[in-house]
Amino acid sequence: MTEAKPKSYDGSDITVAFDGNRCLHFAECLRGLPAVFDVKTRPWISPDSADADEVAEVVRRCPSGALHYTRRDGSTETPPDPTLVTVVENGPILLHGNLLLSSRRETRVALCACGQSSRKPFCDNTCHN
Ligand code: SF4
Ligand code: FES
Repeated sequence: MTEAKPKSYDGSDITVAFDGNRCLHFAECLRGLPAVFDVKTRPWISPDSADADEVAEVVRRCPSGALHYTRRDGSTETPPDPTLVTVVENGPILLHGNLLLSSRRETRVALCACGQSSRKPFCDNTCHN
């Protein structure tokens, strides 16, 4: 499988990073801020098309962790405590919290629950194909 590299989209107050390998097409971003996240335009993420706080808030809704952000003022995402666990029927297990995954810090991940993913521990949507 050819893996796409994560891409960064710079705005004046916020940079949004997108890892297409982790995107499970939940569309939270498209619904949340269509002016910023629009797959019909290039680049598909325009961080300056909304207030940086709003962009950060929508990025934090991305359940798979495909989207991340860094702020110019250095503020970071504060994960919920305790960790939230959501089991998607016939799909992944979503974790949202202060996570350590193979020595990597994460706040949002979608873990494969079916065993069929080629990108374990992450779900790769094989469950929905
Ligand atoms: S919210 Fe995350 S998983 Fe959903 S479509 Fe956007 S980037 Fe992909
Ligand atoms: S749960 Fe989605 S590929 Fe396994």
